[in-house]
Amino acid sequence: MKIAPFSIEEFFALYEFTTPYLLCSSDCESMTVGELLALAEVDAAALADVHLGYTESQGHPELRAQIAALYPGVAAEEVVVLTAPEEGIYTALRTLLAPGDEVVVLTPAYDSLLNLAEHIVGEDNVKKWEIEAGNGRWHINLSRLEALVTDETKLIIVNFPHNPTGFLPTPEEFEAIVAIAQKHGAWLFCDEMYRGLEGNGLSPLPSAVTQYERAINLSGLSKTHGLPGLRAGWLIVRDAEVRQQLMNWKFYTTICPPAPSEFLAMVALQAHDKLLARNRQIIEGNVYLADAFFARWREMFDWKRPLAGSVALVGIQVPSATAYCHRLAKEAGVLLLPSSCLGYGDQHVRMGFGRRNFQECLAQFEQSLLSGQ
Ligand SMILES: Cc1ncc(COP(=O)(O)O)c(C=O)c1O
Repeated sequence: MKIAPFSIEEFFALYEFTTPYLLCSSDCESMTVGELLALAEVDAAALADVHLGYTESQGHPELRAQIAALYPGVAAEEVVVLTAPEEGIYTALRTLLAPGDEVVVLTPAYDSLLNLAEHIVGEDNVKKWEIEAGNGRWHINLSRLEALVTDETKLIIVNFPHNPTGFLPTPEEFEAIVAIAQKHGAWLFCDEMYRGLEGNGLSPLPSAVTQYERAINLSGLSKTHGLPGLRAGWLIVRDAEVRQQLMNWKFYTTICPPAPSEFLAMVALQAHDKLLARNRQIIEGNVYLADAFFARWREMFDWKRPLAGSVALVGIQVPSATAYCHRLAKEAGVLLLPSSCLGYGDQHVRMGFGRRNFQECLAQFEQSLLSGQ
């Protein structure tokens, strides 16, 4: 059976490596292996000692211990190291869902969170819980979630900080989401890929897995740490039986994580605080530049400042954001992601704030606006 196109990745495949001014990336500024080793104060020779045999399927015990230490009360045995964060969405949804199951998904969503659920359980069995647009901010409607979730709901899928809106619930709202899942005995898949990138003086939410035994958390080093080329990610699955079933799906995907990535993931986690501080600082400066930019272009854009994460979804006054973004990429070399790729109409674009050359990209974009392109 065919699965829906992965629109975001298809769009990026067209432009990511040929368009000079990337204004919509969701990852933070990356670095070389040498820079990472230096940042963590690890001798570069240690990389040459990495053994290229098969690795432990659930992940290197030391790496699992480092990951578990990020979550109060979580044990290393509850961590499953992935060969890419994306693998975590696939294996978790395959494990938890069967055709006909009822699922509720926060939308707009990163493609696989929605498409894979629809593919497994059937489109009619997935209910969308849409983030709502308020004046100057996004918000969630908890009454709507209460109405969507029933005793038949097998799984609720959320993603906070949220890609693409940059929305972060309050701790009380998050508690209420967990309580709704708990009341109905539903599993809660919480994509926490952007956790740690809270702005505006906000603290990270507690991880869902520290709040609810039926929560599964996806995280990794691609976004918050700016290391997407490592393809390093993890799931935390507290239920031993479900974890075992998930491992069986992992045997059908990648079997075990790549040894060099595991080594470098351990190095990256030694530099966890430094990487987070660096990337938060980059985002803060860039969002500040965006504030000024959108103040100059008030008529053309609807700017809702992101609360957390590395992206924002911006309303744009053009007949079609899709046509506009394709033209902008081809004619001005500037990449914005149209909301059509996110299943969210055709009047928004995603902007990303994690890159050091944001100012230069924004200037190029402004130039194209001034020249009426
Ligand atoms: C919300 C969310 N989850 C998961 C992923 C997958 O991460 P990766 O591409 O590193 O596998 C992404 C990537 O954009 C994402 O935005």
